[in-house]
Amino acid sequence: MLLQVRNITKTYGPQKALDNVSLDIPRGQVVGLLGPNGAGKSTLMRSILGYLPTDSGSIHFDGQDIRSGGDELKSRMGYLPEHNPLYREMYVREFLDFMADLHGIKGRKTRNEAVQNLIEKVGLTPEAHKPIDALSKGYKQRVGLAQAILHNPELLILDEPTSGLDPIQLKDVRTLIRSFGQNSTVILSTHILQEVEAMCDRVVIIKQGQIVADAPMAEFAEQGGLEAAFDQLAG
Ligand SMILES: Nc1ncnc2c1ncn2[C@@H]1O[C@H](COP(=O)(O)OP(=O)(O)OP(=O)(O)O)[C@@H](O)[C@H]1O
Ligand SMILES: [Mg+2]
Repeated sequence: MLLQVRNITKTYGPQKALDNVSLDIPRGQVVGLLGPNGAGKSTLMRSILGYLPTDSGSIHFDGQDIRSGGDELKSRMGYLPEHNPLYREMYVREFLDFMADLHGIKGRKTRNEAVQNLIEKVGLTPEAHKPIDALSKGYKQRVGLAQAILHNPELLILDEPTSGLDPIQLKDVRTLIRSFGQNSTVILSTHILQEVEAMCDRVVIIKQGQIVADAPMAEFAEQGGLEAAFDQLAG
């Protein structure tokens, strides 16, 4: 099992953002995390990444406790945060080169090639010469996605990767995520149910910090569709 989340609880004051959550994710799955605003999706993702200490329970990544795994474990995951914080004054290519350096991709030539491949892969070629601040939202999102997949992570965690994209960008970004998901494991959150239907092998629905459904996409499809299930469980 690539990821084992066991009975984690996270409280903020009197509120339980995560309430006894358990989740096993094998390698190779694309898992869609659904749930209303405030359900705990981002909190769960940040816990898995080891950025947010939980009150109780445990998280193991490839058999190692994420609390003791440190940077070595983190470097095997990629993350696109909800608000996609980027160094806005940097140029696209300069930023990705900087991130490649941080990820330990050494040697100017190797790094240039890696960055160039990445720029082509995420469709940033026409924008690569601009400062990040000058990009439209969709292209900023692509830069965020590029830095998340740069080091070929074994687990890619994407918090609302397609929010605010126009229909064409949406299609491109979905294709990109799906293609990454063919060789890697992905957890993504979204509010768009069709997106989960289009991209995910498995759906986890979370409500008020608890997992209320966890099943293969095909199972939802058989039982009246994802929308009906979502309305019933989380609405
Ligand atoms: N730093 C914090 N301090 C206090 N409460 C917090 C903090 N971070 C999250 N919460 C609370 O924890 C709950 C879960 O938040 P979280 O951001 O995980 O939800 P979400 O499912 O990602 O929602 P959204 O769909 O709006 O992004 C919310 O009620 C939120 O207000
Ligand atoms: Mg969130």
